[in-house]
Amino acid sequence: MNQKMIIAIDGYSASGKSTLAQNLSKKLKYTYIDTGAMYRSITLLAIRKKMFHSDLWNITNFIPFLININFQFKWNNKLNRTDIFINKENVQSEIRSIEVSNKVSLIARIPEIRKKLTIIQKNFGNKKGIVMDGRDIGSNIFPQSELKIFMKGSIEVRSYRRFEYFKKKGKKISYEEVKKNLFYRDMMDLYRRISPLKKPKDSIEIDSTLISTEKQLNMVVQLIENIRLSNKKNKNYI
Ligand code: CDP
Ligand code: CDP
Repeated sequence: MNQKMIIAIDGYSASGKSTLAQNLSKKLKYTYIDTGAMYRSITLLAIRKKMFHSDLWNITNFIPFLININFQFKWNNKLNRTDIFINKENVQSEIRSIEVSNKVSLIARIPEIRKKLTIIQKNFGNKKGIVMDGRDIGSNIFPQSELKIFMKGSIEVRSYRRFEYFKKKGKKISYEEVKKNLFYRDMMDLYRRISPLKKPKDSIEIDSTLISTEKQLNMVVQLIENIRLSNKKNKNYI
């Protein structure tokens, strides 16, 4: 029987997860789900609702917005990428701001928010043929996924690459500020109580420090070929 897989990609901030996930989804004709973009979108909503003003910082004030939240991922032909829509609004560019980056890990440790997103993310997996990236995909969302990748890289190289991204977009932010944000998020994500960033035992680790995006893609394509050839439990993976 021909069957599509679920590919889970987790790892440190700016380690190359979404580049790999996006490239894989194009190659395999799978759907790409960027779970970091979902946490970022909720953060954007919280900023707009002024939830970070200390007198409003109470999750019960935010629950009404969470209940009917709607996420969509749509292919953007012009920019050759997948865009995220929250409540029908395309927020793909806005969620990459440094303001959202500085607050997202605070939002991502709130149990009510994780619970809500976990349900939505698991539902995306009802239809297989998914590449999903984040922090807890292999450990929590899809522990049964056919392939789990865990990405890391030196903080200097990761920061430099993200710094170059901001520079290209014309954003005035220093390398030191980017590095501080990545380090802060890594710590928050590693040491939070609920579904922290953790390398699943059965994952394959890729260190992207010294390799190109093409090389990391080829490594994973090879792993997928091996799974296809192994034909486990008489499943023909496509
Ligand atoms: O792209 P980058 O690595 O900078 O971050 P991201 O994947 O967009 O994720 C932004 C933040 O969302 C992370 O730093 C985590 O705090 C949170 N996140 C999470 O907690 N769980 C996930 N599955 C995905 C993201
Ligand atoms: O999704 P995540 O935050 O883990 O990382 P990313 O956005 O895919 O990658 C961060 C930046 O590093 C992007 O500009 C990638 O093009 C770049 N990168 C690279 O140059 N070489 C790699 N092997 C991986 C990523």
